[in-house]
Amino acid sequence: MQNQVLDTVLNRSSIRAYADTPVAPEQLEALKKAALASPTAMNRQDQRFIFITDPEKRKRLEQAIVDGVIASGNVDFAERMKSRGGRVTYDAPLVVIICAKPSHFAPVDAGIAVENIVLAAGSMGLGSVILGMPASAFGPGSESVKREFGFPEGFEFMIAVSVGTPAVQKTPHEWDESHIIMM
Ligand SMILES: Cc1cc2nc3c(=O)[nH]c(=O)nc-3n(C[C@H](O)[C@H](O)[C@H](O)COP(=O)(O)O)c2cc1C
Repeated sequence: MQNQVLDTVLNRSSIRAYADTPVAPEQLEALKKAALASPTAMNRQDQRFIFITDPEKRKRLEQAIVDGVIASGNVDFAERMKSRGGRVTYDAPLVVIICAKPSHFAPVDAGIAVENIVLAAGSMGLGSVILGMPASAFGPGSESVKREFGFPEGFEFMIAVSVGTPAVQKTPHEWDESHIIMM
């Protein structure tokens, strides 16, 4: 069966190295549409998508993540991150942060939206990796960081994703067919 959507789903794999090529304007527009087209519980659309293409802003995000890890007191983890140069976003030319007004379904909505972005990126030959790690930048007491990154009042970090031209090839993960329960 020839099916480009299924091919994109089945060939996806987290990419952690990117070419030094910006995401093209038409690709950016397609990714924005893919984000906005995501379904949300009761069609609330209470999430915002922060598109970071400025490398300085991305570095600032990585610094805020390291600062957040240090502030959390997880010294070993902070040292490990620093030793890797704090490259949480893998120098991707695009990082999208999804923040949302907290609600029961907000994390589910964000998960759906991030996968929409991932699959749209994959369909255009771009690689991606979903990032939970940036949560460290937006923990308790991070109001000024949230403002700096454009979070509306009361919105919280949900998830992020790095996107760019892959600099590596990777095989999709293996799975266990027994995880499907048929009735
Ligand atoms: C909710 C979530 C958070 C993740 N956070 C990170 C992260 O912070 N850093 C990272 O390198 N990968 C992160 N990943 C990627 C996973 O490690 C990856 O999806 C998993 O190892 C399976 O590999 P695959 O995506 O190549 O199939 C995250 C994935 C998900 C779904």
